[in-house]
Formats: sequence, structure tokens, C-alpha cells
Amino acid sequence: MKEIKINTDSRNYPVLMGTDILNKNNFKEFSHKEILLVIDSKIDESVKKEVQINLSNISSKYSELTIEANEENKSSDTLSMIHDVLIEHSYSRDCILFALGGGIICDITGFAAATYLRGVDFVLIPSTLLSQVDASVGGKTAINHPKGKNMIGAFHQPSKVLTDTKLLKSLEKVRIREGLAEIIKHALIKDKTFFKWLEENIEDLLEGNDVKLLEAISKSIEIKAEVVSKDETEQGIRKWLNFGHTFGHAIEVYGNYKKFSHGEAVAMGMVMATNLSQKILNLEKVEKDKIKRLVHSILTEELLKTEFHPKNLINLMSADKKKKGDNLNFILLSSIGEAQILSGIDESDIIESIKLT
Ligand code: GLY
Repeated sequence: MKEIKINTDSRNYPVLMGTDILNKNNFKEFSHKEILLVIDSKIDESVKKEVQINLSNISSKYSELTIEANEENKSSDTLSMIHDVLIEHSYSRDCILFALGGGIICDITGFAAATYLRGVDFVLIPSTLLSQVDASVGGKTAINHPKGKNMIGAFHQPSKVLTDTKLLKSLEKVRIREGLAEIIKHALIKDKTFFKWLEENIEDLLEGNDVKLLEAISKSIEIKAEVVSKDETEQGIRKWLNFGHTFGHAIEVYGNYKKFSHGEAVAMGMVMATNLSQKILNLEKVEKDKIKRLVHSILTEELLKTEFHPKNLINLMSADKKKKGDNLNFILLSSIGEAQILSGIDESDIIESIKLT
């Protein structure tokens, strides 16, 4: 078992990582607590049972709620369902919410915890590679608004994160690729050595090699922990974590949240941000080619053939919450491991970068 400490201005908490993290010892500290478990409907039965037994055995009050995790359900209606259970069963301010699922379940449970009785504790048990390296660390909680993704939310840090890689065993390949997009992003913004390691190990990672995956998750969380410990509420360097996301969020909307998953959109967005980095920050061609080679390896042939209408994509970017005033913010690379925040970029340069080659 490995432990990484996340230290932020509002709270310090551990992320426990390994292959037997859901054993009862890691739940002991929650004995005699009022517990609500929010479960992703896609969770493997045996994992669900293990968590249910551990929590119901130790709690003073126990309820659970199963949610079908999709962007439509990341809504105020689902949030109300969680609050309804808490209110109907008179949960006190001392209660604790547990999220067992992917990013959607982590985000909505965190936001329910942030808003119930002005804030109660929560624990995350992320079940996908993407949520293990991203949503479970850093305390961004949110629901969607019909007009935009994650538009309503709060920074609210969990008390503990239990990251068990055995949960990844049943993941389809496409979901591994999604998580790899965010892992590559972490290397690109902060760690050239890790990027090199990813280049050398990408085949094993794509095959789901658990030892290598654990190493990649751990390194990725360390990078994210360092960033959020310096800037919990995204006033400065936390924006680096949005590398590829200004393009990526627009790509998700372009595909109506159906054609491209978040990870695929971010991977495609990273290729575009890399093109823009060469143009604006003179990122060296050899580095640009290395980045593209690695990112292309996690995208399918079919996705790589996607052609975007640049003007339409730019219009969708303008609706993104990552803009500053009327200016779009871009995270660009001067070299692998060195990120910068830029705005005021000419539209013609953005248009030129909208390609996957
Ligand atoms: N997913 C980016 C962040 O947590 O800031």
C-alpha cells in the first residue's frame, strides 16, 4: 500500500493506493458514524458488496443510493435525491458521505457533501482510471447545468481517498485510454522524466498491466497533489491542469457528449494545444512529434480521422468557463514539462491548430 498526502489550505488528507485498499482496516476510523453510500450502477457486484458490508457493519446509521452515472444525471435532480435521503433520515452535520464510482459519482457526491448543512465530510472510492488520477484529487465538486458542464459547484476536499487498482480489472480498454489522457497531461505540464517513462511503457499501460498502472497513477497523483497544494482554488498554476481542456471541452460539446468521451476529447485537445504551443511558444518540432506519437497511441484510427469545423469549435470554446473576460485561456507548453497560461491569442492561430496531425 502506498500513501500520498494531499495538503491544501482548507484540508490535508491521504490518498491510499494499492490492490487491497477496500479491506475493513481502512474504514475503521469511520466507526459509529452516520454513513450514506452513493454507488455508481456500473460497479462490479463483488466490489459493491465488500464496501457495503464494511460500511454497514461499522456505521451508526446507514443508507445507500444507486445512481446511473451519465452527464444527464449529473443534475440538480440527482443532487436533490441525495439531499432527500439525508434529510428524510435526519443525518446530522457529523455524517459522512461515501462515493463509490467514476468521476460523475465523485463530483456529485462531493457537491452534495459541500452543500448539505453547509458542508459535511466525504470519502471517495474512485472506480475508473480517469477518476483515480483526476476527479478524486483536489476537491473540485460539481453538477451540470443544462447550459454547461460542471457549471454549479464548489471546492470541497474529501477526508480520504481510497484508490484500489483491483477496481480497474473489469474496465474496458477504452476506459483505460481515457485515464491515460489525463496521466499524459500530468507529465506534459510538469514532468519530462515521467513523460519519457510513459513513452517507454505505454503498451503495457494500454494492456492494463497493474504494476505499471499503479506506478502511473501514483506519479500522476503526486503531480496533481503538488499543483493543488500550491493553488487549491485555481487562481494560478492549477490552471495548468486544464492543458488540452479548452479545446477538449468544446470537442465534447461538438459531439453532443455522445460522440467523444471526456478522455478522448482531452486527448484530441492536447494534440491541438501542442500545435498551438509550437506556433506561439516555439515548442520544438521533435518534442511536438513525441507528444503527438504518445497521444495518438491512446486514440483510435477512427478518432484520428475526425475533422472539425474550426469556426464551430471556436464558438463552442467561447462558452467555456475557463475564459477570462472575453479572452480564451490556453495552457501551452514551451517544452515537455513546462506549461504556461496564455490568453489574447489570434483566432487565425487557433484555427490553424485545430487538426489532429
Ligand atoms: N481536473 C482539473 C482540476 O482538478 O483542477
